Amino acid sequence: MTGATGNVGIEVIERMIKKDLGNSIVAGVRNIERAMSRFPTLANIRCVLFDLEDPESFDSALENIDIVFLMRPPQISNIRKYFDPLISVLSKKGIRKVVFLSVQGAETTSLIPHRKIELAILKAGINYVFMRPSYFMQNLTTTLASEIKTSRTISLPSGNAKFNWIDIRDIAELAVEFIENFDAYRNHCFTISGNENVNFETVVTKINEIASTHISYHPVGPLGYWKLRKKEGMANGMILMTFLLHFLPRTRKEPEIVPSYRNILKKDPGTLASFITRNIQFFRETSRLP
Ligand SMILES: NC(=O)c1ccc[n+]([C@@H]2O[C@H](COP(=O)([O-])OP(=O)(O)OC[C@H]3O[C@@H](n4cnc5c(N)ncnc54)[C@H](OP(=O)(O)O)[C@@H]3O)[C@@H](O)[C@H]2O)c1
Repeated sequence: MTGATGNVGIEVIERMIKKDLGNSIVAGVRNIERAMSRFPTLANIRCVLFDLEDPESFDSALENIDIVFLMRPPQISNIRKYFDPLISVLSKKGIRKVVFLSVQGAETTSLIPHRKIELAILKAGINYVFMRPSYFMQNLTTTLASEIKTSRTISLPSGNAKFNWIDIRDIAELAVEFIENFDAYRNHCFTISGNENVNFETVVTKINEIASTHISYHPVGPLGYWKLRKKEGMANGMILMTFLLHFLPRTRKEPEIVPSYRNILKKDPGTLASFITRNIQFFRETSRLP
């Protein structure tokens, strides 16, 4: 497991432990002690040192591994430098199965890092499952949390663009299915979307209705966005990545709703309303602001 301490990774691990598959997981983390203290769940599985920026960590981290759950940490965009060496170690060690957390629409452009990773996996002849999820509902409670907490506001360069919203729990459930039954899904790509295409104005209205809060959405331009995130202490590379994530949907048609989740797991993906209800305390804390 890469990204074991990340939003998706930890959900995948928790689901595998619940299915009694904990013994089969090895979590590759940059700092074992820190990872275990942040996520006590990790104390129940084997953790090894793994750092994409330290190729010397690859060989031992990948010892006796059959399937790699691979993700791209958001701050890493130089794929040739950081992922190519990893993929060549996978090949050398005879690791033939990768479940890769990509992004919706990756196939439409070779410019984004996720597509570069997909192409490197294809080129190496490694068997794969490419998961291409849409926009995470959990962005509201992670990357956008700081501004919501400090000023009850979401400022983004998204205008009225509609996003497709997916609950990370649903992505994790599918990831476990792909890992457990890899051969049934081998060499397939799955766009993973929820059933709702809505803009940020609609999302904050839903939050305010459900949680009785007063959060507002402020559409901002590129400069306004840069200044805001800079003030929050975000690194320039991340500002650019998050700007593109939120701006590009304005230039594209509405995201496609693809029923992979329903087709595979025979149930509907989570809704925004259920996500907001589950996180009602998080949103309500903002109403204590002056
Ligand atoms: N946000 C969205 O709406 C969205 C939608 C579709 C796809 N995605 C994609 O999903 C991925 C993000 O997933 P996520 O939210 O689960 O990630 P995340 O919560 O941001 O976690 C990043 C993970 O990467 C690890 N990491 C960071 N640098 C590393 C390095 N040098 N070597 C090894 N591990 C490293 C972190 O470990 P530490 O604990 O050591 O920091 C952490 O486990 C990105 O590729 C993103 O583009 C996001």
